[in-house]
Amino acid sequence: MLGELIALLTCLLMLHFLRQRWSHTSYPPGPLRLPIIGSIWRIGVRVHKDTSIKLAKQYGSISMLWLGQMPIVVLAGYEAVKEGLINHSEDFAERVSSPFMKALGQESGIILSNGHIWKQQRKFGVTTMRKLGLGKKGMEPQIEEEAHQLVETFAREKGQPFDPAIPIANSVSNVICAMAFGHRFPVEDKEFIKLMEIIEYVSKFINSSSHILYELYPWIMKHLPGPHRKAIASVETVLSFARKEIEKHKEYHAAHEPQDFIDFYLSQIKKSKNDPNSTYNEENLAHCILDLFAAGTETTTLTLQWALLLMANHPVIQEKVHKEIEDVLGSSQLLHYQDQKILPYTKAVIHEIMRFKYILLFGVPRQCSKDVNMRGFLIPKGTVIVADVRSALLDSKQWETPEEFNPNHFLDKGGNFVERKAFLPFGAGARACLGEQMARVELFIFFTSLLRAFTFQLPEGVKELNTDPIVGGSVAPRPYKLCAVPRSSSS
Ligand code: HEM
Ligand SMILES: *[C@@H]1O[C@H](CO)[C@@H](O)[C@H](O)[C@H]1NC(C)=O
Ligand SMILES: *[C@@H]1O[C@H](CO)[C@@H](O)[C@H](O)[C@H]1NC(C)=O
Ligand SMILES: *[C@@H]1O[C@H](CO)[C@@H](O)[C@H](O)[C@H]1NC(C)=O
Repeated sequence: MLGELIALLTCLLMLHFLRQRWSHTSYPPGPLRLPIIGSIWRIGVRVHKDTSIKLAKQYGSISMLWLGQMPIVVLAGYEAVKEGLINHSEDFAERVSSPFMKALGQESGIILSNGHIWKQQRKFGVTTMRKLGLGKKGMEPQIEEEAHQLVETFAREKGQPFDPAIPIANSVSNVICAMAFGHRFPVEDKEFIKLMEIIEYVSKFINSSSHILYELYPWIMKHLPGPHRKAIASVETVLSFARKEIEKHKEYHAAHEPQDFIDFYLSQIKKSKNDPNSTYNEENLAHCILDLFAAGTETTTLTLQWALLLMANHPVIQEKVHKEIEDVLGSSQLLHYQDQKILPYTKAVIHEIMRFKYILLFGVPRQCSKDVNMRGFLIPKGTVIVADVRSALLDSKQWETPEEFNPNHFLDKGGNFVERKAFLPFGAGARACLGEQMARVELFIFFTSLLRAFTFQLPEGVKELNTDPIVGGSVAPRPYKLCAVPRSSSS
């Protein structure tokens, strides 16, 4: 009996397999798709940071997976990622809609929204970031002020081992506060502390099994208690925080020139009052603020955490940065973003940090808005598209030593900075990062200010800080301690 059952099952499986070969020859290649569970058996349920690179080795730079009934196309390596993000920019511009994303408010804001709402909110976001500006009259003085505060905080540790994660997160969040609300918060402010905790909680939740359960069985999970409820409530708390700031702005700022994101948005609401197609309203404004926090804090914070860790692990490279800053700027002169032009080595080190320890796992997944032909393969409408930016940053065809921390990737023989086409940490195309310019200014000012003030050293008895990441929705360093030893020449 059992033998017959096994024979029957084998037959069915073979038939299924053959049918797949005959009927879907035009889909991109990938692991065998089994009935019901799809092909995730091949990669395991938990994604690994190198999943796409492994897929590419076996199936090529464009491959297809099935999560149950849901097709996922993975693009790996610089050429395929670029082709996906740029040549198919419009076809792949939609965000995936999932039950949890919907619960978070997919119809509003920039990051998760689609269609007309996304187009309008994004366009406004891009224009406003530009209007707020990053020069001497724009955001830069605020970033310099935060960097100055961060140096003071580090100095209070007096060269003893400490964990820099929370001070960095506070400073970076305050830059977003300054941009969105027009003011910063003292680090001991209760509401600010709550805001920090929420951001951390939600990003941890994205990696949890209750998140996966919510995506699979939303109709059950909605009625059950658990972390998913807290995550959704947390997001609601950030929104009400934003709404409170919006109310304050309506009272006080109405008569002034617009100075921050909320000001600009409120005047846009007024301007488009009579346009029936306008999506400018306070609900979308609150979501835009949430999005700026969500996209702009963890990314920059983690990059700076990796930066200090790598400097402590690579004292020779750190010393070269110190020397360049001292030779070029001396010790008295103030530091501005435009100085990166005369600090090519420092600039190369910052780029290499972003390449070598990229902080996003797969970027932010998209969805295909129509049937698309890419490299002769059919990608059906609705397929989830994962254009793995990380794989472009580690592509062995593009980088001389992809697995090694090597600032020479961005320097020519004469020590001049060189741009590299495969350096795509901010994505590309219609959905490319809105905060790229701001992030670049932040990273430069924070990094250079800190390296000007301190030598970062390993605590006594520690040979090296662990560079194995914690992989969740992002790629974070393990909590670590280092010593920020004040540099005598800069005092
Ligand atoms: C090191 C820092 C950062 C990195 C590596 C980074 C990277 C990215 C990437 C890869 C995307 C997704 C593009 C896609 O869908 O293909 C993205 C989207 C986005 N980023 Fe950034 N980002 C950083 C900092 C920031 C900052 C500081 C802000 C804002 C103040 C910001 C705002 C956004 C927004 C709003 C989106 C969504 C765009 C859309 O969906 O249309 N990012 N970012
Ligand atoms: C992608 O677009 C670029 C520039 O428009 C073009 O040169 C290139 O041939 C395109 N690649 C493919 C595969 O269509
Ligand atoms: C509103 O949108 C519709 C459809 O997209 C368009 O035909 C119409 O011209 C738009 N109206 C205004 C005032 O922009
Ligand atoms: C994500 O989940 C894995 C497995 O449960 C865990 O080891 C890892 O620490 C988690 N990452 C984060 C950022 O919480």
